[in-house]
Amino acid sequence: MRQGTKAVHAMAEKSVFTKRFLKGDISKSEYGQYIRSLYFIYRAMENLLEQHQDHPAIEMIYFPEDLNREQALLDDLAYFYGPDLVPMLTDPMTMTPAVKQYVHALESACLVDPSLLVSHSYTRYLGDLSGGQILAKRLKKHILQLKKSDSSWHAQEGVSFYYFNTIGNTNEFKNMYRQQLDQVPVTESLKASIVEESIRCFELNIALFDEIQALSEANSLVQLDQVQAIPPPEPSPTASQKRDLPTLSTLSPATTILTSMVILIGCGFYMRQRS
Ligand code: HEM
Repeated sequence: MRQGTKAVHAMAEKSVFTKRFLKGDISKSEYGQYIRSLYFIYRAMENLLEQHQDHPAIEMIYFPEDLNREQALLDDLAYFYGPDLVPMLTDPMTMTPAVKQYVHALESACLVDPSLLVSHSYTRYLGDLSGGQILAKRLKKHILQLKKSDSSWHAQEGVSFYYFNTIGNTNEFKNMYRQQLDQVPVTESLKASIVEESIRCFELNIALFDEIQALSEANSLVQLDQVQAIPPPEPSPTASQKRDLPTLSTLSPATTILTSMVILIGCGFYMRQRS
């Protein structure tokens, strides 16, 4: 698999969007669109894997508790856009053409032979456990503006997608996954089809990146820079000392009502004194 997808992997790494991601040069709105696209992809892929979990090929590589990403992506979307926007963002009617194409490819592959889902599972999950971990660091540093010395560097808010909490050692898991892959029952021709489908899967991912790049250039993304991201929790007094004073919009409703009442009573008292 690794050998068969080497050339297309290099192409994925060279796409404009991934190069910008690696340089730490993408905006919150672009990253938001990225996880929104991934949400639809993982939902479709994980539903199909679940449906075919007893298939002799799928059962070898089916680790939903360790790998499933749908909930993590929902959490990250809620973090970046706020929970109220999530239903709109995850409405299938809002799927972009590259996302629709990817979902369609997953469904068609399954109709041809559910074994081809192995290619999609391998390409996404092993990618997330490999290069994805490099991207997570870029995201923390450049988009969430965290420093390695901050205690919030290890917090998962906004980056849940990259945290596989039940997998202890990532390399050991990847090795185990590869061993399972080797045991998928295949004929020579199915083996070739699985590698071919992995190459197709890389191409679909490249199309996702290119689409985000194009949407961004056309200024057609939901502008996240204007949506208030939820601040990470305050784990240490040092971090809280650095925190800006809260604005009215960041206070809880109860605090807002109480503050307003104090201001009103104060004004009333001031007016009475004057008259
Ligand atoms: C920013 C771009 C990327 C970087 C820097 C990157 C980096 C890496 C690295 C360093 C590995 C080696 C892991 C190892 O030997 O254990 C790897 C493996 C892998 N990457 Fe990427 N990657 C990128 C993009 C992608 C994309 C877009 C996909 C597919 C969606 C992908 C899928 C994979 C897969 C499936 C593997 C596992 C290969 C294997 O061990 O069989 N990568 N990546």
